[in-house]
Amino acid sequence: MGFFDRFKVKKVEGVDDTMYLTLREERQITKENTKIIREFERQKNRKNVKEEEYLTQMKDPSNVVEFDNLHTYFFTEIGTVKAVNGVSFDIPQGKIVGVVGESGCGKSVTSLSLMQLVQAPQGQIVDGSIRYLDSSGKCYDIAKMPKDKMLEIRGKEISMIFQEPMTSLNPVFKIGEQMDEVVLLHVDGATPESAKARSIEMLNLVGIADVEKIYNNYPHELSGGMRQRVMIAMALACDPRLIIADEPTTALDVTIQAQILELLQNVKDKINGSIMLITHDLGVIAEMADLVVVMYAGRIIEKGTVHEIFKNPKHPYTIGLMKSKPSGDTQDDRLYSIKGQVPNPINMPDYCYFCNRCDHAMKICSEEYPELVEFSPTHMAACHLYYGKGLLEQKKGKE
Ligand SMILES: Nc1ncnc2c1ncn2[C@@H]1O[C@H](COP(=O)(O)OP(=O)(O)OP(=O)(O)O)[C@@H](O)[C@H]1O
Ligand code: SF4
Ligand SMILES: [Mg+2]
Repeated sequence: MGFFDRFKVKKVEGVDDTMYLTLREERQITKENTKIIREFERQKNRKNVKEEEYLTQMKDPSNVVEFDNLHTYFFTEIGTVKAVNGVSFDIPQGKIVGVVGESGCGKSVTSLSLMQLVQAPQGQIVDGSIRYLDSSGKCYDIAKMPKDKMLEIRGKEISMIFQEPMTSLNPVFKIGEQMDEVVLLHVDGATPESAKARSIEMLNLVGIADVEKIYNNYPHELSGGMRQRVMIAMALACDPRLIIADEPTTALDVTIQAQILELLQNVKDKINGSIMLITHDLGVIAEMADLVVVMYAGRIIEKGTVHEIFKNPKHPYTIGLMKSKPSGDTQDDRLYSIKGQVPNPINMPDYCYFCNRCDHAMKICSEEYPELVEFSPTHMAACHLYYGKGLLEQKKGKE
């Protein structure tokens, strides 16, 4: 081997070598990104924006939220990560919508877009709408809302419960202080006394026994399950219309997990609110959700009622997900896993993203991105198996 050959990049199996960039290319990307990001930030930071600019109409007033063709990108120095790439789904009033999909498919970025909490400046909502119907009946497009207006909605009408409560609770303040702050910030006319009364009421609601003691504890003095209850109590303090729960039980053991899920279900019924429930766990979805959205590589590949998705999944990825969940009556002691990996998010193909992993892939699948096909007014999937040239190809294959 020659001296310079030692420094040549070797082809590594499964690694996309079109992704190697020269320093010059990286600099060019950074320059372009800075221009794009600056314009988005300027729009968001505007003060005294007229309400008409971000007021809109719901497609269906029985929904609390309607994601419509949402695109959220990250402008990084190695290229644009299309984390959410044309996502549309509704969250109806009083319902639980489960969002599933493998790691990195854009579940959290979708929910963070709704809270305007995508990591800026590189993360930006670049297209689409997020319509939100507030308690007074006004409909806002959160994608166009300036930051100062969003502060009124975030934490009050829409609240969020994260996977690991320890990272969301401040370790140097007592539980009570942190809970009171939420009320003082969001409830008009709240006093320290009324805030404390509300915090105590919420801690009782989530089934905490020794409320006064917990109120005066620091987060590290509580168990994981207890901290998650506190997070739920905090999220409920301002009577939200929508709770976003991003993997709320992943860090908990199974028995506590069941208690927390039951609690979420109960509080949802009490406040007649809606929940966007993000999880890897199909068991949790089956138990809790009314509607299910299946995401893959930044897009929705199937959505439907929980019954439709579990009893009659259509997309090969959803079918794979169903097969990969543990079930007591499996004959085989090995759990099914979907082969291969999600494509590189910076270099997404313009055909079906699942093509390299799909046992049913046909010629058309590597030529065009499939449209969403409707199986019922609530059930749809994006797959060539069910329409147009894909159906013809299958027919020919069988002949
Ligand atoms: N700050 C960031 N900068 C660049 N890319 C990001 C950033 N945050 C998220 N991404 C990318 O966006 C995509 C979607 O990420 P997201 O966190 O929404 O995935 P997820 O579905 O919630 O996964 P998980 O189940 O692991 O939580 C991923 O490809 C991720 O690498
Ligand atoms: S479009 Fe083709 S490759 Fe994609 S999931 Fe359907 S059959 Fe598989
Ligand atoms: Mg996530």
